This record gives sequence, C-alpha cells and structure tokens, in this order.
Amino acid sequence: MFRNLRYGLIGAGRNAERKHISGYSNVPNIEIVSICDVNKEKAKKVGSEYGIENVYDDYVEMIRKENLDIVSICTPNSLHAEIAIFALMNGVNVHCEKPLAINAKEAKRILDAKNKSGKKVMVGLNNRFTNEAVFLKDYIDKGFLGEIYQAKAGWIRRSGIPGRGTWFTNKELSGGGVMIDLGVHYLDLVLYLMGMPDPSYIMGSAVTNYDKTLSRDRPGYSRSINGIYNVEDSAVGFLNLMGGRTVSFEFSWAANIAEEKTFVELIGTKGGASLINGSLQIYSEINGTCVDISPKIDKNTFYKNEFEHFVNCIIFNEEPIAPAEHGVYMMDIVDHFYDSAKKKEPLFIGSCSQVLN
Ligand SMILES: NC(=O)c1ccc[n+]([C@@H]2O[C@H](COP(=O)([O-])OP(=O)(O)OC[C@H]3O[C@@H](n4cnc5c(N)ncnc54)[C@H](O)[C@@H]3O)[C@@H](O)[C@H]2O)c1
Repeated sequence: MFRNLRYGLIGAGRNAERKHISGYSNVPNIEIVSICDVNKEKAKKVGSEYGIENVYDDYVEMIRKENLDIVSICTPNSLHAEIAIFALMNGVNVHCEKPLAINAKEAKRILDAKNKSGKKVMVGLNNRFTNEAVFLKDYIDKGFLGEIYQAKAGWIRRSGIPGRGTWFTNKELSGGGVMIDLGVHYLDLVLYLMGMPDPSYIMGSAVTNYDKTLSRDRPGYSRSINGIYNVEDSAVGFLNLMGGRTVSFEFSWAANIAEEKTFVELIGTKGGASLINGSLQIYSEINGTCVDISPKIDKNTFYKNEFEHFVNCIIFNEEPIAPAEHGVYMMDIVDHFYDSAKKKEPLFIGSCSQVLN
C-alpha cells in the first residue's frame, strides 16, 4: 500500500525557506519530517513556521534516524557532493540545489553514487519548470523552430551580488562567482531547450570588478564586509557546439545597465523564440508573412511543478527532467569556461558522452 514520502531538509537558509519548504508543503504525498542546519537556531525557526518538530544540526544523524525518502540539499555549493553521496548511499533520493557540485569531478561522484544506489537525483533547475519553458520545450521538440543554429542566454543584474563576503563570494565554498550562481541557470536553460547538444569548444572571460564596491548587494542577503571576495562578478563567453551551432552568454551580478534582465533567444531554421524576463515570444511565418506569436500561458506555478515532478518520479519510478547527468554536463562546461578564462584562450571540451562515461 502507498504511504506518503518522508521528507527532510538540509540547509535552512534563504533558498530553502523561499523555495523548498514551501514547495514540498504544497504538493501531495509528502510528509515533512525533519529539518537540519549547522545553525540549529535557524533550523528551529524555519521548523516552527512549518510545524516541523524534528530539528538537527547534523545531517548524518538526521539521515540515520529519520528513515527518509527524500532530502533537499540547500547548503553552500561545496557541501553538495558530500551530503548527496551520503544520502544516496543511505537509500535517500536527493533534490540538490544548483549547481550540482563545485566542479565536474565532484558532480560525477554524485552521479556514480546515484547509479550505485538506484536512487534518484534531481538538480533544482527551477527555470526548466516555468510554464513558459515547458511550453517552449514541447514546441521545439515538435520541430516548430526547425534546427536551432544560434542562441543567446544571459542574466544581468544591476545590483545583485548575493552575500558579499559570505560563502557566495568565497571560491572554495561556492566554486565560483556569477557563472556558477546565475550562469548554471540560464546557460542550462538554453542548452536544455536545444536538447543538451554536445559542446565543441568554449571561450570565456571572467572578471572581478566589484570586490571593493560596498553597494550593489542583493537585498535580503546577509553580507560580511571583511569576508572573502575572490570570485568573478561578470562572466561572458561563447560556446561552439558540435556541428557548428553556437551559444553566446553573458552573466553579471552588478552591471551598469538600465535594469535587471534574464534572456534566452533561439534562432532556428523554421522559427525563433525569445524568453525575456519570463515573457515568451515566438517568431514564425504564416503564408509567406512574418508573424509574432505571444502564447497565452497560465499563471506560473513553477516551484510546484518542480516539486510535484520529483515526487511523481519517485513514486512512479521515472527519470526526472533535470537529472544528475545534466548537472555533470553543465559542470564540465563551467570547468572549461573557468579554464578558458584563466588561460585566455578557447578550449576544446569534447562530447558530453565522454563526461558521462
Ligand atoms: N534555484 C535557485 O533559484 C536558487 C536560489 C538561491 C540559492 N540557490 C542554491 O541554494 C543553495 C543555498 O543557497 P542559499 O541562498 O539558501 O544560501 P544560505 O547561505 O542562505 O543558506 C545555506 C544554509 O546552509 C547551512 N549549512 C551550512 N553548512 C551546513 C551543513 N553542513 N549542514 C546543514 N546546513 C548547513 C547554513 O547555515 C545556511 O543556513 C546554494 O547551492 C545555492 O546555489 C538556488
């Protein structure tokens, strides 16, 4: 007989509260059992808001005691691999926040543990779950854009450095700056829409301009003025895909532009599409005349979509649409981006099948 899945949260910070706890509270077949944060007071506070009584400051103890089916991992990036591998090897399915890990090697260790355990891993790539992205992916997969040969992706903030001097700006804990924070969302989205194509080479530029500027922090994030800031706040690059298709990308935490902008633009042989600040437009032709189409899409429920999807994948034994394999693929591209930026030269990446084997 079916029983509700037992859920535990690891890392009760900003994203956990805003996204994971509210997400899992709003889907059926879940019992929220326990919460863990090294800062136990934080875990208690979030726990009390959601009526969660079992509070821990050690994820090992929580996983050993609570007989969980799912955990969310919402800790600093450098802990994702260690926690995910422990959870998987103890029979727990993992919903891990992006990036899957701080580099491809760590991400691959998670993938290996997932394969060994037979459990599931989903990366928290919420931009794949917006109603617009779901519509666009299906539209593309049905061939309406033809072959997408050129694309752009970006997320440029005017004042959006998350947590200056906290783990976000400390390379050892985060793995990198804006590329690993915002880049893995929108570069992921564009490549996902294109069908996870094999990359060929990448040219990247990563620069740090705002380490000494004390304005430009993202509202809501704590800051530690004397903390470490050794990551890039601007990441720009060009990704060439096998077969000659291209993606250019641009990410910034703090740029002197009019206002924050997120974008994905796709140009295909039969049509094009743009998803700018969440608004979807399709560019096509009817009877020899160019037409612009503005799909009327239902109000977004993307957080719910993401959580319901993962719960259903576990119950019905299906593969999530944002699996660990895609997290490894992205981290391989990100590693090459940083290498290319450091060496100031284009770098060959090679096919994703090489990374995954
Ligand atoms: N999908 C998204 O849109 C999105 C948005 C923001 C952040 N994120 C990701 O979510 C993760 C967390 O980001 P955040 O903004 O919530 O950061 P945060 O700093 O607000 O929260 C991290 C929490 O982890 C806790 N922690 C640290 N070590 C721990 C350990 N060993 N065990 C348990 N808890 C531990 C910290 O005390 C803190 O409360 C990151 O991986 C980040 O990239 C994703």
